[in-house]
Parts: sequence; structure tokens; C-alpha cells
Amino acid sequence: MYYPEELIEEIRMKNDIVDVVSGYVKLQKKGSSYFGLCPFHNEKSPSFSVSGSKQMYYCFGCGAGGNVFTFVMNYENYTFGEAVKLLASRAGVALPEMEYSAEMKRRENHRARLLEVNKEAAKYFYYQLRAKQGEAGYRYLTGRQLTEETMKKFGLGFAGKTGSDLSRYMKQKGYEDKLLQEAGLAGYDERSGMRDKFWNRVMFPIQDINHRVIGFGGRVMGEGKPKYLNSPETPVFDKSRNLYGLNFARTARAGNIILCEGYMDVIAMHQAGFTQAVASLGTAFTSGQAGLLKRYTDKVLLAYDSDGAGVTAALRAIGILREAGLTGKVIDMRPCKDPDEFIKKFGKEAYQERIDNAENSFFFEIRMLERDYDLNDPESKTGFYKEIARRLCGFEIEVERENYLEAVAEKYHIGFENLRRLVNTYAARTGLVKPAERPKSGLAKKDPPEESGRRVQRMLLTWLADEPGAYKKAAAFIDASDFTDGLYRRVAEKLFADLEAGIYNPAGIISMFEEEEEQREAAALFNTKVEAIETKQERERAFHDILYAVKKNSYEYYSGKLGSDVQALNQVIAGKKALEELGKTHISLD
Ligand code: UTP
Ligand code: MN
Repeated sequence: MYYPEELIEEIRMKNDIVDVVSGYVKLQKKGSSYFGLCPFHNEKSPSFSVSGSKQMYYCFGCGAGGNVFTFVMNYENYTFGEAVKLLASRAGVALPEMEYSAEMKRRENHRARLLEVNKEAAKYFYYQLRAKQGEAGYRYLTGRQLTEETMKKFGLGFAGKTGSDLSRYMKQKGYEDKLLQEAGLAGYDERSGMRDKFWNRVMFPIQDINHRVIGFGGRVMGEGKPKYLNSPETPVFDKSRNLYGLNFARTARAGNIILCEGYMDVIAMHQAGFTQAVASLGTAFTSGQAGLLKRYTDKVLLAYDSDGAGVTAALRAIGILREAGLTGKVIDMRPCKDPDEFIKKFGKEAYQERIDNAENSFFFEIRMLERDYDLNDPESKTGFYKEIARRLCGFEIEVERENYLEAVAEKYHIGFENLRRLVNTYAARTGLVKPAERPKSGLAKKDPPEESGRRVQRMLLTWLADEPGAYKKAAAFIDASDFTDGLYRRVAEKLFADLEAGIYNPAGIISMFEEEEEQREAAALFNTKVEAIETKQERERAFHDILYAVKKNSYEYYSGKLGSDVQALNQVIAGKKALEELGKTHISLD
């Protein structure tokens, strides 16, 4: 059932979120918000917050968040339509037999068509694998010791040799060429007409958490480049917000999730009984994926390849997991390259042992760091210890820092007091032990570079949602194009357009997004933790720093696009000017 946006908004406004949530969760007022135990994950102390002014909820523990509709959908396991009905009747709003906005309907319809064509293609590939023309594929997969049951579970398939099998089949089924192209399954060129994207490859359908096929990976059988071809991103395939295997792993209840590099690793692990394994989608692990994992676990084990590229990727992933508040551990795969090889060689019991003995991610980082230093050379050795001290300062909680300090000192035979002195020296120099002097905006946190860019964008959106009056000050320097993540930009566009028109309605913005995952992320944008700031002067300073950081990130982003994007030059020139301007402007918040 489709309803017009105005009606949805009316229903939302007539259902105060604090009232509605109170019907399910015991809430207590704390400052301007209400807090309670999160109904979406297990916890002992309340990190679930509900804001009456923003009309949103957000859990600082598991990242669940959204508006009153999302809450009812998640709590009751309702579809959007069902939640609308419940809340309409609760508020006494009559529901006409009505339609969605035309634009929303069109988008939703297009997504449904893309999912349908993907599903049809997956069925076709699946069938091919078991037919005469798929024999090579079947042999390849059984050669890699996959059982029929495993192939079925993952819906593995085969794309035939001619390069136009799928296009022809789909045409005959009545799908337009354009749709097939939009799904990334085929391309068109003048000379040869419609050409399949995947041919002569074994096919791995990629599913979202609801088991819907959203894209494909295709592997050459044997050597050949590229080893894997992947579907491009489409309106249903967001590589940074989905994980291969999560549709199964989410219900594995193993107490952890194992993150690995490849599709084949995931499949081999599931076959061996480790059904908590997932992998990213041919791209590096992202903070969006960390957020997704956080819904199901607080403990992530990395099972990355043991080669140089694998270590680099693991170090990067550790930073992202840490930022998301997840505990990371690293599984030692040596002497094998990856989990697939390990399990084949040593069996699942041995692998379970490696899981049990996974290394704390901080120790892993230090061990990898050690390789850059020559511990026989006193100067280099001192450099190593100093770097350890610097990293220890990253632990903001004192007990935690002390515990690591002790453990590292023992492990590397550094005198405890010596190491502590180094830590104190470093801390004093950077202000860590004197919290009053630290920048209060929270900008000083160490993140991987893209993540820190995204973080400041979240902080700015949260700030403006909490304090819409500050928008005018920000708008002198910033507009929606400065938000470099697609989803962030859509939120900023709407929020800014609303504020320009004198409307304040952050919870309404959540309803723009159809996917639950997007709704959660949009809610997170308005609920980023900003450290408590006391004085007006500090607040102004923090606001200025955040604005500056967002602008700088945008400037760097567009600078990187010079030459490939015609818009970029204008953005860079304007960005440079705004940065100079900001550098000498004091922003007052009244
Ligand atoms: P790997 O090369 O480790 O592949 O790449 P794998 O999954 O272990 O597969 P096998 O065992 O060699 O058959 C890890 C992941 O990186 C992406 C794929 O997602 C792959 O699963 N990748 C790799 C690509 O997207 N394209 C490539 O050409 C190679
Ligand atoms: Mn591999």
C-alpha cells in the first residue's frame, strides 16, 4: 500500500516518539533526552536514547536508530505499511486508499525490477551449472572440494561461453535490454549489440541480509585475469553496506563474526561449519559494513590472507572496527595463505583452535610495527618504543591504557616504568593527560583518513539537527555538495532545504529512505556523540573546527577528482576560498 508523503508525516507527527516508545521500553529522562535499555540488543546499562525534540531514537550500543516508524517496524517486525496502519489507528488518523508520491513509487518500482532481474539471472546461472554446458564449471567447483549442498546453499552458478546467453534468455523472458544494462548484467555496443558482462565464469550471487540477490561475482576457472569480475554498484547493490554471507552469518550465534577477504573463504568456512563467516565485496572493508556487523555482534575476528596485502588490509580493517566500537582480533593463518587453504590442509578442529587463540588487534598492530624497526640498533629500538607509547595514548580509558602498557612492556621486555615514562612524555606533549587542554570537538580522534572525513560530516549534521539556529552560520561556508558520501549528501540536501524554508523536521528525513540499513545510517547522522562542551567559547571553537574539517575534506575530495569531473574545478576554487575565509573568521553562536 502506498501513501502520500504528507499523510505519512501527519501520522508521524501525531505519534510522539517518547509516548510510543514508552509503551515498549521503560524510559528515564536524562538531560534533554530519555534513556532506557535497548530492545534491539542485550545490555545491562541503558544506551538507548529517545529524543523528543528530534523525534528519533538511537542506541549508542548497537547503532539501532530511526524515527517512530522504524521503531515499530523493528520492534514488531512489521513492514512499513503495517507500521503506518498501527500508528494511524493509534493517533486516530483515517487511512484513505491512496498512493505514494510518484517519485518514491517510481524508485521503488525500479528497485523491485532490478531485484527481479537479478533473481532471474541467478536462477539462469544456477541452472546452467547443472546443464551440459556448465560441466566445466561444475568440475571446477567440485575440484575445489565444494559439496553439492554447499553449492546449493550459496546458489552458485555458471555463465556460458558465448557471451550473449543471458541477454538472449532475458529478452525472451520479456525483460528490456535497458534493465539488464542497469543491473550491470550486460552492456551494449554498436558492433556486437548486447553483450553479457559475465561469460565463461563460475558465478557467485551476492545476497543482502534478506536473501535477495543484489549482484554477482564471477570467477575464471583456473588462471586468467581478472580473477573475479563483480557487478557494478546499482540502486540495489551498495558494496559498502552489504557483506557476502551475512544473510547466513547473522543467525549463526557463534558469539563472533569472522571477516575474511574472499567469497571462496566464506564458502569454505561455512562448509566446515563456521557459518559466522562473511567477506566484503571485492572492495576494502568500510565503516558502513562495520555498522552492519555491529547489529549482530560486538566481536569480529579477522581471517585475512597472511600475505603483505592481507596484512595491510587487516590493519586498515582494525582501525575501522575500533572506530565502530567493535573488538577486533586477528586469526593467524600461517603457514597457509587463507582460511580456505588452511581448512583443507589442517582441518576444522585446527582452525577452531586458531579462532580460540586469535590475537588481540592491538598486539597484532605492534607486532606488525616491529618489522619496520631494527631492534639491534639502539636508535631504531628507541623509535619503536616511542611509537608504542604514541599508540598506547590512543586508549582514552586509563585502566585500559595501563593494562595494555603492562602487557606490551612484558611482551617486548621493556621496563614498565620506562615505557610509562615515554607514554607520559608523549601524553604531556600532545595534551592527553590534561583533558582540559584537549580540543573538545572530538576532532583529534585518530581515524583512517576517509573515516575521519565522514565522522566530521556526521558531527556537523548532528550539531545542526540539535541546534538548527546554527544553520545560518554554517551555510555561509558549506552546502550539501560538501558532503562526500552519497547518503550523507541526500540527508544534507533535505535538511538544508527544510531549514532554508524554515522547517525543522529531522525525523521526516528518515522516511526518505526505503532500506532499513539506510534509515539506520541516516538516524546515526543525527546522533553522533559530541563530547560535552561547557563554555560558549569552547563551543564556538568546536563548531568552527568541525566546519573547517568538513570543508577541508570536501576540498580534498574534489581536488582528487580534478580532470575526471567537470564540476570539480568549481568546487575546488570555491572550497579554497571558503577555507581561507573560514581560517580567519570567528563564528559566534548565540
Ligand atoms: P582472493 O584473490 O583472495 O580470492 O581475493 P579468493 O576469494 O580467495 O578466491 P580463490 O580462493 O583464489 O578462488 C579476495 C577477494 O577479492 C575480490 C573478490 O571479492 C575476492 O573474493 N577480488 C579479487 C576481486 O574482486 N577481483 C579480483 O580480480 C580478485
Ligand atoms: Mn584468497
